Amino acid sequence: MAEQTLTDKIVALCKRRGFVYPSSEIYGGLANSYDYGPMGANLLRNIRNLWWKEFVEKRPDMVGLDSSIILHPMVWKASGHVDSFSDAMIDCKECKTRTRADHLIEDYFESKKEPIKVEGKTEDQMDQIVQENKIPCPACKKFNWTKVRKFNLLFETSIGIVPESESKAYLRGETAQGIFVSFKNIMDSTRVKLPFGVGQIGKSFRNEITKGNFVFRTLEFEQAEIEYFFDPEKTEWEPLFENWKNSMWEFVTGKLGVKGENLRWRAHDDEERSFYSKRTEDMEYKFPWGFKELWGLAYRTDYDLTQHENFSGVDLKVVDSSDGRKFLPHVIEPAVGITRMFFMTLLDSYREEGEGEEMRIYLALKPDLAPYRVAVFPLVSNKVELVEKADQVFKDLSQIYSVGWDDRGNIGKRYRAQDEIGTPYCVTVDYQTLEDGTVTVRDRDSMKQERVALEELQSYIAR
Ligand code: GAP
Repeated sequence: MAEQTLTDKIVALCKRRGFVYPSSEIYGGLANSYDYGPMGANLLRNIRNLWWKEFVEKRPDMVGLDSSIILHPMVWKASGHVDSFSDAMIDCKECKTRTRADHLIEDYFESKKEPIKVEGKTEDQMDQIVQENKIPCPACKKFNWTKVRKFNLLFETSIGIVPESESKAYLRGETAQGIFVSFKNIMDSTRVKLPFGVGQIGKSFRNEITKGNFVFRTLEFEQAEIEYFFDPEKTEWEPLFENWKNSMWEFVTGKLGVKGENLRWRAHDDEERSFYSKRTEDMEYKFPWGFKELWGLAYRTDYDLTQHENFSGVDLKVVDSSDGRKFLPHVIEPAVGITRMFFMTLLDSYREEGEGEEMRIYLALKPDLAPYRVAVFPLVSNKVELVEKADQVFKDLSQIYSVGWDDRGNIGKRYRAQDEIGTPYCVTVDYQTLEDGTVTVRDRDSMKQERVALEELQSYIAR
């Protein structure tokens, strides 16, 4: 399979089978925005639920949160987002293409097979690189750029229906800040004690200008973030950091079924790392255009709580009951995009077998992830007894699983459609079912078919 075209194949499959559509397509679409169709909504929900189960429900040291998308504007001032949450942009004066300066430079050197990292460089330094190397515009190939300048990524909005009372607010740029500003309430209202973590899943918004790598980087996206709070005098951060690395790796390989060889850790060097972070490492996935960040892990110290304490004037310290010491907890933050995991999962599970007309495409998704755990077909749609029996099987299975239904076309076409959405099992109700109460169960990966008694169907599917 040619690696360059894998993204195109996934984009086409997503549209064809109802995973992802270009957003507002009837109006010509909106750059870097997508809608998740029926299959996409199921896959997203399965990833989200697995994450929540693993990192919130299964851990006694974790609690969950669902904070507002629009927080007090001071939150973003305190966090530093208003002043420095920005990308360096550059515009082509000839064709008006706007692009991220770091991407322009990195792509240019990548194409010359001399890859460089630009993160951490100032606007002036990037300007110098563009000028010295006479990097042309990727769209019109001319060399006539504006200067590199900062572009804030926060989405602005306003609160209030009367213009005079309008006040500027922001759609959250990360879910993390909602956790920091609820920290005191969580401490006061629950029985948590350090070390403990708060997990949150929700939409974040960034005014990204990107080169369409499908849902890799979008204007709005779903994040799953944890702030793990601890007392730096009682808990060593290095082993904690390593534990989180192991949990993250185990989740991606074990729960999402992603191949370990397509993953790696990359530590940020001093230039790239945020000034408040003592260590940052990214788990990277081998996307078709190279290893890129999937999941960040950062030791953010007490930076955020300190900032919020200073800006709000509210004491956010906790007291060590053994000696009365007051301190601000430190945090380790695992932060991932659910939508980016979604894309990775599709890329990693995509399979082709055979060639030409005979080619079979399927998604080798883990059963817990597949949009439908099982699909049910009546052999034909015009035999009432078969349809009624199949409907009963559908109703029984759907008590436990998400179940697909198909009574259109021939069985071969139905298998093909279910393969492409990754349904692990297809169950056909046929004439023999009416006689002996067995159904044909077809396995997605092996394509083997077996007769299974209806009373054993649920346990067969649960394997
Ligand atoms: N609180 C830390 C934080 O937000 P980040 O590296 O900016 O860190 C965390 O984002 C994760 O969110 C990334 O690793 C990525 O998976 C996802 N992410 C960030 N920006 C995204 C975007 N524009 N579209 C899709 N996913 C995004």
